Amino acid sequence: MSDALNRLHDIEPSVGEFRDAVLAGLAHPRKSLPSKFFYDAEGSRLFDRITELPEYYPTRTECRILRDHAGDIAGLIGPGVRLVEFGSGAGIKIRLLLSALDRPAAYVPVDISRQHLLTATARLAREFPGLPIVPVCADYTRPFTLPDHRSAGAGHDTVPGPAVGFFPGSTIGNFTPAEARDFLETARCLLGPGSSMILGIDLRKDEGTLSRAYNDTAGVTAAFNLNLLRRINRELDGTFSLDQFTHAAWWNARQGRVEMHLVSRRDQEVGIGAHRVRFRAGETIHTENSYKYSLDQARDLAAGAGYRTRTAWTDDAALFAVLLLTAP
Ligand code: AVI
Repeated sequence: MSDALNRLHDIEPSVGEFRDAVLAGLAHPRKSLPSKFFYDAEGSRLFDRITELPEYYPTRTECRILRDHAGDIAGLIGPGVRLVEFGSGAGIKIRLLLSALDRPAAYVPVDISRQHLLTATARLAREFPGLPIVPVCADYTRPFTLPDHRSAGAGHDTVPGPAVGFFPGSTIGNFTPAEARDFLETARCLLGPGSSMILGIDLRKDEGTLSRAYNDTAGVTAAFNLNLLRRINRELDGTFSLDQFTHAAWWNARQGRVEMHLVSRRDQEVGIGAHRVRFRAGETIHTENSYKYSLDQARDLAAGAGYRTRTAWTDDAALFAVLLLTAP
């Protein structure tokens, strides 16, 4: 077992939590499932494939912004910081930051998928041998405490600076605006006074670009969406027939979000353990929202959570923005 595995702080959501959320969501007149449950090992793998699709512009655009401005970000946040990444995933973007930062004191990746977290962490530990890494397997939408990074080794010989949050990928868009504000506020309190937050935001744009990004021709997003039903079958003794549901995604202009749904192809009844759930033909399960913000809306969101936007960087086509927020 590697060092990274030894240091894992494990507060992964339980199967009971998953069951409660699924049964509650499917009992609702407008059926829904929380998008955070997409990310079992297979869902995380499929999401990684989404990020490489030609239609899915957010990942490569954000990486480009980070590559172009990692030096500026590092200069603004200073030396010796504890970098806390919410939803660390494959860990590609963090490399761009870690390579630019001046003697970071520790890296704390927080992710809901234990397997994904451990694989990514072990790889990163090999690339940054002197860096204390303290992985936390947790649902970061729920309150949790930061582990003491000093237990993870000596690290660089510098007095630790303040904590810096990193929330890339526009994952903030998967929350409602009220949840997004609550998340940012909770993160600000968790990270402490004088901390910063590096936040990725997918910007408002034309409907065609958005629709293509969530309806890719290779069908990877459809597989990602349907994998939620496979997960229910496996973990909760469900009887969903995956070929009896189809993926659908569209821009909801009134709400300012892309919605993903699973549409029932026919009238059917599905078992989840001892429970039975009925679906009408055409009825949908709402599985994800992906809110898109203008830069002004993003600044307002941050201000509502007690943050000041110090700088915002965008790409030339203004598809995506990376904001550096500071807490008083
Ligand atoms: C993780 N999150 C920001 C992605 C998004 O774009 O909302 C998840 C995703 N859903 C479909 N494609 C990608």
